[in-house]
Amino acid sequence: MYKPQAKPDFNIPEIVSQFSTPLIIYSINELNRKITELKSVIPAGSQLLYSVKANPMPFVINLLKHAGLGFEVASAGELHQLIKLKVCPERIVLGGPIKSKEAIASGLQNNILSYNVESEQDLLNIMRAANLPLNISLRINPDFSNRSSEIKMGGISSQFGIDENQLIPLIRKYRNVVNINGLFMFAGSQFFDAQKIIQNTSFLIEFAEKHKDEFNQLDFLDFGGGFGIVESANQPGLNMSMLKSGLDDLFESKEQFLDTIKYKFFESGRYLTASSAILVSRVLDIKYSKGKKYILLDTGINHLGIRQLDLRTRESFISTVKEYHEHSPAILTGATCTPIDVIQSENDFPDVAIDDLVLIHNVGAYTATLSPYNFCGYTYPAEVSVNARGDVSLIRERGDIKKSSGPGYK
Ligand SMILES: Cc1ncc(COP(=O)(O)O)c(C=O)c1O
Repeated sequence: MYKPQAKPDFNIPEIVSQFSTPLIIYSINELNRKITELKSVIPAGSQLLYSVKANPMPFVINLLKHAGLGFEVASAGELHQLIKLKVCPERIVLGGPIKSKEAIASGLQNNILSYNVESEQDLLNIMRAANLPLNISLRINPDFSNRSSEIKMGGISSQFGIDENQLIPLIRKYRNVVNINGLFMFAGSQFFDAQKIIQNTSFLIEFAEKHKDEFNQLDFLDFGGGFGIVESANQPGLNMSMLKSGLDDLFESKEQFLDTIKYKFFESGRYLTASSAILVSRVLDIKYSKGKKYILLDTGINHLGIRQLDLRTRESFISTVKEYHEHSPAILTGATCTPIDVIQSENDFPDVAIDDLVLIHNVGAYTATLSPYNFCGYTYPAEVSVNARGDVSLIRERGDIKKSSGPGYK
């Protein structure tokens, strides 16, 4: 059943008349609201790192920088982006399952805060490149499985981190050669059960306390996060007040130990940025084929990427600008020439007309960077931001289709 979404607090047709479609509109209000909310949920004495992979747009990074967040990067490219935007290197942690030579060299050159190391080889690569005393945290893949996250990255067999039973032997092998002074865990993304995030945090604190004497000095604990965002009607949403009180209680009960740890981090990408952006598209065609209705939009797989493949199976966050009395089952597709360009499988949808506007919500995370913009000779949409006064600024011009085979080709 189609459920209308909350209306954004800016005038979409007016903005579209200036910038056309497809268009991504960022709400600075919404981004600030999420930053304030998540900062207030993590316990006093801990800090929030933004995962740049969710959305590396300069506009987003600058806002988070001014809000005082740190940053978690997973490649030389992300690190370069932060340095270019004058983020203080002391607020940057370099992660990623196996770091490239370029990423390590850039981390060293810029003197970033620390490295989240995911394997012995990853550690050796850093050690070979550096003879400086660096801050190294080891990423643990715990034995216990936390099955409630939709995207699992720990407690299962995976390419991420170091299995719990291999971690202490690794510390013993290298602790006199390199400064291993932290632990990191990222069990997964899209947790909707606050208790699971609390349990993950508790696990890392207890593991660290039990094994603290294995370290020359333990300075860093990075608890990860996985703060879930609602993307479809059947997802429950994370109870932030339950999360806050659970984390506060946990930190209070472990105060004495945690006071000895200089840096206590939580990480988040999607919770901070996803809801801040909507993609505005236009209806290009409405047609019927073998008993089914199709609504073709001027956006699709080329702008929604992997996220869109997910949405096909969900009751997605799609709405309209106008209100409609009549609804009927329809399939929403993009305009690119592939059968996988389905935005929403058959679902009750307003009876829109050609040229009407359709909004796809929650595109502020893992959308632009996971999209095959150049597919079929298309390019990326224009992007604008709207501030609290309703002022609209262009933050990225629409791509140039003459370069849509990708820059750099001869
Ligand atoms: C190590 C690490 N930290 C943080 C994140 C951000 O996750 P989310 O955007 O779900 O908050 C990810 C996502 O893959 C990750 O791999």
